[in-house]
Amino acid sequence: MAYETTPSVQDVRASFQRRAGRPAKFEKAADPRKAMVRLLKYLGPFKSLLILVVGFIVLYSLLGLAGPYLMGRAIDKSIGGKDLHGLLVTALLMLAAYFLSNFFNIIANLIMARISQNALKNLRGDLFAHIQTLSMRFFDTHPAGGLMSRLTNDIDAINQTVSQNIISLIASILTMIGILASMFILNHWLALASLVVIPIMYWFSNFIAKYTRKGFRELQKDLGELNAVAEETVSGFKVIKAFRRNESAIETFRQKNNAVFKSAVYANSYAMLLMPLTGVLGSFFVIVLASLGGWLALKELVSIGMIATFINYAQNFTSPLRQLSNLYNSIQAALAGAERVFEIIDTKPETPDLPDAVPAGRFKGEVSLRNVVFGYNPERVIIRNFSLEIPAGQTIALVGPTGAGKTTITNLLTRFYDIQEGQIRIDGIDIRAIRKADLRRNLALVLQDTFLFADTILENIRFGRLDATDEECFEAARMAEADHFIRQLPRGYHTNLSERAGNLSQGQRQLLSIARAILANPSILILDEATSSVDTRTELRIQKALLRLMEGRTSIVIAHRLSTIRDADSIVVINNGEIVEQGNHEELLERRGFYHHLYMSQFKGNEI
Ligand SMILES: Nc1ncnc2c1ncn2[C@@H]1O[C@H](COP(=O)(O)OP(=O)(O)O)[C@@H](O)[C@H]1O
Ligand SMILES: [Mg+2]
Repeated sequence: MAYETTPSVQDVRASFQRRAGRPAKFEKAADPRKAMVRLLKYLGPFKSLLILVVGFIVLYSLLGLAGPYLMGRAIDKSIGGKDLHGLLVTALLMLAAYFLSNFFNIIANLIMARISQNALKNLRGDLFAHIQTLSMRFFDTHPAGGLMSRLTNDIDAINQTVSQNIISLIASILTMIGILASMFILNHWLALASLVVIPIMYWFSNFIAKYTRKGFRELQKDLGELNAVAEETVSGFKVIKAFRRNESAIETFRQKNNAVFKSAVYANSYAMLLMPLTGVLGSFFVIVLASLGGWLALKELVSIGMIATFINYAQNFTSPLRQLSNLYNSIQAALAGAERVFEIIDTKPETPDLPDAVPAGRFKGEVSLRNVVFGYNPERVIIRNFSLEIPAGQTIALVGPTGAGKTTITNLLTRFYDIQEGQIRIDGIDIRAIRKADLRRNLALVLQDTFLFADTILENIRFGRLDATDEECFEAARMAEADHFIRQLPRGYHTNLSERAGNLSQGQRQLLSIARAILANPSILILDEATSSVDTRTELRIQKALLRLMEGRTSIVIAHRLSTIRDADSIVVINNGEIVEQGNHEELLERRGFYHHLYMSQFKGNEI
């Protein structure tokens, strides 16, 4: 038989859990048709293969119809006519029909798997490549988790639909149309009786399914909350232990655990109910058809074989019918996912380089900001009329309270964001006229939280300049004062950080990022609070490494530590996006102005 009449409890549960697994997927696409058209474009290159798939599904569905018909004929002609040879022939024909039908189904699915995986590969590729082109503004406003879910959950939802649901949908519809057509061709009265009973069955099983679905949705929500509690407790165990909150963590977990228990019992009870109920309904259908058929048979209006054929058809009808509503939900979910994916693909990339942007070699490193005005959104100005000249090779310290706009200035120099008014020049050239790649090759950033990849220490250093030799990486590590600790690790430079990252101290991670910057050998260096979350033991080492890194380069240093600031050629005090004072440490202290105030409240006691 082409379809199982009664699904097993496991099937039911799996189907609901699959769909309930991602609560976000219950939402519908705002414009499903548009999402569908765009999704189909990814299948476009495989048009001829798709036609082949549809051809095989048609064969599969048609041959599925042959079985019950042949069985009915065997009962009437061969058994009724005591024709053993005919019986044998029909049996072989049935076998051939079922065999071929399923064979075609397998072929269709195999081809479809190739098509869909190819299409998905292209979609994933497009999405990932496009994400790489997006502006810093995009990443600042889209949390990483959401993007990850585009690349994993949404793509996965699309995968399900493209690789499986499309075939199921076509097969279900074809089977249902085929069965209805065959029924009416074979016998009007039995066909009409089926038409009355089928909707009742459908309605009943849908009724139960609705509660099961609701149950599993609830369960999934509770499970999500339970997982969140578990995850928080595991990743935040240090804080929990330090504040002695283990008891309350256990209590929270107990409550969520209880909720999961309750909703799991509810959902599973309904899922259990679904199977016997569908069974009973199926039998009800058989009984109605058999009784009506029997009555018609008594009046010699139908043959026994015909009744058997109908019962078989009826059983094959309900399963695709039930599948349709599942398919509808999955397809909606996939389209919603596709819409979210396309939304990212449609996001405008970072502004491209000007057509006449000049390729630039190595900068001398003279930086000049003139009357710069900038706001992340134009209504709220963050940087006001900001002018600053930094001669090549000098070190400038930017200081000011949190939120003053220090990091924003660095965002403008790297062109992560473009200024609204004024001009930024490097070596006398407006940075908008320099290709971004060239600009950024000349700049290196060392930030407060270093990002290290799940790769070896060696490769993490090499990230600073991909064509660097091993020897150059070692040299950079030596200059960054990192060589010593790296060599003490059991696998040295080949230590994989995916396994050991947790064991590197904040300071050691910082040293690695300094090595990376040394290797990159930029003409302009930006240090944004690079030493603020470092233990004092490594602090001196980092200071030494930083001084070496800053040698001979234009350096813009944002720091909490007085030591870094004091040695700067010039200190620029920023408040509210404006320069309020500028000079060296002694000059500024003498002035007893903003810097003096800041120094008293922030740096005093931080001296090392
Ligand atoms: N990506 C962003 N989008 C919108 N506003 C931002 C963004 N980054 C920073 N801001 C705002 O800009 C102001 C300056 O921030 P920032 O330059 O990070 O300050 P600082 O580094 O001096 O502490 C703050 O008011 C902050 O809220
Ligand atoms: Mg900052």
